[in-house]
Amino acid sequence: MSPAAAGNPRVWDPSAYLAFAAFRARPVEDLLHRLTLDAPGSVYDLGCGAGNITAMLAAKWPGRAVTGLDSSPAMLAAAQKRFPDMRWESGDIAAWAPPAPAALLFSNAALHWVPDHAGLVPRLMGALVPGGILAAQMPNTADAPYRACLDQVLKRDPWRGRLADVATHPDPLRAGDYYDLLKPHAAEVDIWETHYAHPLENLDAVVAWVSGAALVPYLSVLTETEKQRFLGDYRDAAARAYRPQADGRVLFTMRRLFLTAKRCRGGTAR
Ligand SMILES: C[S@@+](CC[C@H](N)C(=O)[O-])C[C@H]1O[C@@H](n2cnc3c(N)ncnc32)[C@H](O)[C@@H]1O
Repeated sequence: MSPAAAGNPRVWDPSAYLAFAAFRARPVEDLLHRLTLDAPGSVYDLGCGAGNITAMLAAKWPGRAVTGLDSSPAMLAAAQKRFPDMRWESGDIAAWAPPAPAALLFSNAALHWVPDHAGLVPRLMGALVPGGILAAQMPNTADAPYRACLDQVLKRDPWRGRLADVATHPDPLRAGDYYDLLKPHAAEVDIWETHYAHPLENLDAVVAWVSGAALVPYLSVLTETEKQRFLGDYRDAAARAYRPQADGRVLFTMRRLFLTAKRCRGGTAR
């Protein structure tokens, strides 16, 4: 069984995710802005979700074969429906390799759901053509209020017992760890963090955002009645953590780690 399939079921809801597509596209724009692709080959969007980012990749590199890969049937169905002419593939990033070395392996807000980055990152670098690029963005939740709210709720009854066995993703590794994993395979490595403050409409929007991402492993195992109660508890915690701005909006803050690495021409850098 693949690592993704081994844990709890994770039921992704494309509509919950797409509700904030414009805000979620912002880090993608920031990442794409940094990429110049001159090596030949295909482009893959790993953990493509509902496909909107994959479509951005296809628009940026119209001459390339662009494929979106995801393990969620619901997300892939949404991608296929929205972009029927594009290529979609079902698979687990943890076990996946392209049929031929790729020019770009791109991943937005997905690699943190995949375990063992010490093994994954060198493997993905090895799946690139010389001069090919690995580019990824992952949220860093260490000081995120939305994560602290989740931790508070999970410590309370009945969730402490009911959700004790649910596995979620860890934070990404530190920048220095990624540098050391990437550099032996890379001619260039660029790693940075950006702290976003998205002005969401109100507190309900914060809960809706988190429901479509960080809460997915928990909501996936709850009954409909339990879900409503869990979301109510989460909303109460969020009401204490997020204060409305003067115009009533709520700033949803999120630190994100970016990395890009260009594979060295000779295979390894040392
Ligand atoms: C937060 S969504 C991001 C979707 C898309 N990249 C975007 O930015 O809109 C994370 C996606 O990663 C997918 N995912 C998580 N673990 C995966 C794995 N091991 N293999 C393939 N896809 C995975 C989920 O199904 C989900 O669609």
